[in-house]
Formats: sequence, C-alpha cells, structure tokens
Amino acid sequence: MSAAQRRGALVGCGFFAENHMHAWAGIEGIEIVALCDLDHEKSRRMAAQFDVARVYTDVARMLAANDLDFLDVATTAPSHRPIVELACQHVDLVVCQKPFAETMKDAQAMVAAADNAGTKLVVHENFRWQKAFMVMKDLVDNNRIGTPHFARFSFRHGYDNYKNQPYLAEIERFSLMDVGLHLFDLARHFMGNVTRISCATQSVNPIVRGEDVFTALLTHESGATSVCDCSFFAKLDPEPFPQTAAWIEGSEGTLELGTDFRLALHRKGSREVFDVEPAVPPWGGCPWHNVQDSVINFQTHVAAILTGEAEPRPSGRDNLETLALALAAYDSAARGQTVEMPRWVEERA
Ligand SMILES: NC(=O)c1ccc[n+]([C@@H]2O[C@H](COP(=O)([O-])OP(=O)(O)OC[C@H]3O[C@@H](n4cnc5c(N)ncnc54)[C@H](O)[C@@H]3O)[C@@H](O)[C@H]2O)c1
Repeated sequence: MSAAQRRGALVGCGFFAENHMHAWAGIEGIEIVALCDLDHEKSRRMAAQFDVARVYTDVARMLAANDLDFLDVATTAPSHRPIVELACQHVDLVVCQKPFAETMKDAQAMVAAADNAGTKLVVHENFRWQKAFMVMKDLVDNNRIGTPHFARFSFRHGYDNYKNQPYLAEIERFSLMDVGLHLFDLARHFMGNVTRISCATQSVNPIVRGEDVFTALLTHESGATSVCDCSFFAKLDPEPFPQTAAWIEGSEGTLELGTDFRLALHRKGSREVFDVEPAVPPWGGCPWHNVQDSVINFQTHVAAILTGEAEPRPSGRDNLETLALALAAYDSAARGQTVEMPRWVEERA
C-alpha cells in the first residue's frame, strides 16, 4: 500500500457492518471518514465506537459533502441500486455487499452505471476469501489434483441466524439469495461458468417465510458438475456454523474440506492434511472468526484495488452470472425443470 491515505465512507451501520469497520481499522492506508444510516442512532453509535467524525442519514448528502475515494455499501439488497448508481458519480470504487441485487435488471443497471462513470465495482463476496478456499484455490491452480470434474459445496447448520438478522425470517427468497449466492460463487470460482442448473427447494422451519433448504446441481462449461446444498435447519453436534464443507475431485487427486477446518489432499497412495483454521481477530470471536478473517482478506483486496495493484474479484460484471444462477434456481425449483443458463440470461437481457 502506498503512503497516501484512501478516504472511504460506509453506508448501512447494521449487524454485519461492524465486521467491515473492524477490518478497515486494521488495514494500512485506509481511513473511514464518514458513516451513513437511515437510523441516526446506529451511525452515531458506530461513529463513537470507531472514532469517525461525520455521520449522515442521507447517502446523497454524505457523498456530496466529502471528498471520497470509495464507498462501502453494507445495506441490504433493496437499497443497493440507487446507492450504487449515485456513488458511481462520486467515487473511484464502490464496494457492494451481497446479494448484489434482487433482480437482473437492477444488477445490470449498476454494472452499466459503473462502466459509464469509469468507476470500479466490486461485490463483497467473501466466501472465496475464506482461508480454506484460498488454500484450496492455490492447490487447484498449482495442479495438485489435476483437472477438476466434480465439486460439492455444502452449508448445513442449525445456528439461530434470525436473532442477529431478523429480516432473514421475513424475506420471500431466503436461502438461495443468502447462502446460495456464496456457494454459486465458489462453484464458478473453482469450476468455471455454468451452462445448466437444476434445483429443489424446501421450507422446513415454520418460523421462516422463505425456503430454508435447497439442493442444486450445476453443469459447467468444461462438462464438470457440482452440487451446492444448504440447510438452515440441520440438527448437528458440534454445530458447524458458519463453515462450508467442500469436495473437489480431479483427475489426479481430491480435496476434502470438513467442518473442522481440516483440509485433506488425497492422491493415489497419499493423504496430506492441512489446518485451515484462521486466527481469531483481536476484535472477533468464535464461531464467526472464519467469516471475520474472510472480511479482512476481502477488504485487503479492496485496498489493493484502490492502489491499482489488483482488479475487482468478483467484479459487479462477474457477479451478474452468480446472481443469474440464484434467480434461475428459483425458476428451476418452481417448474421442476432444468434451466439452460445461456437461454435464461438471453431472455432477461
Ligand atoms: N458476506 C457475508 O458474509 C454477510 C453476512 C451477513 C450479512 N451480509 C449482507 O450484508 C448486508 C447487510 O446485512 P445486515 O445483517 O448488516 O443488515 P442490517 O439490517 O442489520 O443493516 C442494514 C442497515 O442498512 C441501513 N439502511 C438500509 N437502507 C439504507 C439507505 N438507503 N441509506 C442508509 N442506510 C440504509 C438500515 O437502516 C440498517 O441499519 C445484507 O445484504 C446481507 O446479506 C453479508
């Protein structure tokens, strides 16, 4: 990071933003100079906690009044499009939490706004920045398992998410738009783009409005297949939240990630085991340290984008395909049919 400070602001001072703020505080060369939330009390409290001088209830006023390099958008999806479109007129880089959008139209509009303004747009998609998946990506890229032909990404737990994020129990589209997006991003990250998806959804927990269980089968451009599955209603001991189990099978070996931070590299006649548990950040705690560490890794990447040392991963444009998968998965589940992705995307363009 160069000596110059990059000045940023954050909008949406809710549950998850606290992780963003802790992570920013530890990244050299970054300064958060203003905060915004519709709820003044939330931004005021966060400003006091992180020593931020300026607070706003209106993002337009914040953007107009401060000379910013970037905006970190940590609000929920319905607000993303107007905030991102406006921010593209004011800053060099917009960071947007997932779900990037609720519709392809909104997501495409944000990508167009960024392109037209020459603004970079990165989606806060942090699963690929978890330590386990960074180690796995290195192993795959270094050809330790040969050519991958099958993968599974599995997120099953019974943790009470609804205490910290009550809106999750109320939204009509839940598990695919919450964790499905993360798993589909992993599937694309490791196995490439997807040509076909078929998905079944279930509503199991009676207190939850949307679907809280799904199973999806993906076919990738290479011909490889992957399974992404998720349950917010699994009875398990020990409780694995928020870990993702994974399996990537290649021509020369297999990677097996358990929910105990153990990653095994199987090759014919050998098995090597890696400890992929991240350190608990000084400000963090279990079981969230896995996620907290990934936020630090992701935002360190954002700092590198600001200095020109990296390109957005994933960019808004890249994330369009991940969002398309989640939305197409609902169509597949509703119709009981496999969805051909190129045609699905064309029909919505
Ligand atoms: N990447 C991850 O691992 C991860 C984990 C949890 C949540 N999230 C995502 O983070 C986002 C925020 O989730 P959360 O649980 O913190 O939600 P939250 O409801 O606790 O916080 C969102 C905040 O945004 C504020 N807000 C909404 N619209 C606004 C606007 N137009 N202007 C200013 N403020 C506005 C709300 O008042 C609220 O305080 C969601 O999209 C969620 O999916 C990501």
